[in-house]
Amino acid sequence: MLEMLAPAKVNLFLEVRGKRPDGYHELVTVMHAVDLCDRLSFRKKRRGFELRGAEHIPGRNLVQKAFEAVARARRLRVGLDVRLDKRIPTGAGLGGGSSDAAATILAMNALYRLDLSQEELGAIAGSVGSDVPFFLRPGTALCTGRGEIVTQIKADKPLYFVIAAPNFECSTAEVYRRLKCSLTGKIIDVNYFLRVLSDGNLRRIGAGLFNRLEKASFKMFPALARLKRKMMQLGFAGVLMSGSGSALFGLCGSLPQARALAASSTLRRIRTFPVKSFRQEDTAWKSPTFR
Ligand code: C5P
Repeated sequence: MLEMLAPAKVNLFLEVRGKRPDGYHELVTVMHAVDLCDRLSFRKKRRGFELRGAEHIPGRNLVQKAFEAVARARRLRVGLDVRLDKRIPTGAGLGGGSSDAAATILAMNALYRLDLSQEELGAIAGSVGSDVPFFLRPGTALCTGRGEIVTQIKADKPLYFVIAAPNFECSTAEVYRRLKCSLTGKIIDVNYFLRVLSDGNLRRIGAGLFNRLEKASFKMFPALARLKRKMMQLGFAGVLMSGSGSALFGLCGSLPQARALAASSTLRRIRTFPVKSFRQEDTAWKSPTFR
């Protein structure tokens, strides 16, 4: 048996550079893993796929897609038993499904001793979803292309956030569809944000947070714009929507501050999670491939 943590992510910066001929959007995004984690346990079996714990999530789970993608790539005729303890809100732009999928790919690699190269892991992950490759090595990364081209960024200082997850989900595809109409004007360069991030000044990081998808999601869900305004009055260094929403996050200076803000009466009707940067070295996160 293999147990793994699958962390959530927030997008600290997300710019859309245009629409591609394949229908996807060309992105420049800075993804940052946080320690709100799904827990998965994997067991080999001779045939078939079984997933327990995701019964409430509609559609074919990305965990199954990931299992099938690995099996196809290596022409394997094996099975997999998965238990998923879901803690990351779904449809929230926090990458929970993608992270579960990446954990599954790594687990298959380890359990069946496939010895997949980084390139093979990346290609399989990218075929399952645009965000999946980032989670093969969850930390801080600049992601381009559809989001699947991942460049690790050194970010030594931990960051602290309050994630606020409303009780409705945003469809990523729908948000991108709506964005089409508003894709005009100047494209913001990520390099300034990358410099600010490496300097580590909280106020400047807060001021540099940016997400091009906010407008489209806020139009679909005006409650999100209201929630952002409320959160901005609470004294966060910055507040931003993650991915295509529906979760927002506020940047804080410490975990005690994050806990205090998460408990504030302004957010009493919203699920809140005080979190810090996910660090592979101080968790039970296991990746035999990258150890
Ligand atoms: O790659 P993934 O399956 O996660 O993407 C979900 C949907 O989000 C796509 O079908 C597409 O509509 C949209 N998308 C996009 N451009 C991206 C990533 C996702 O248009 N870079």
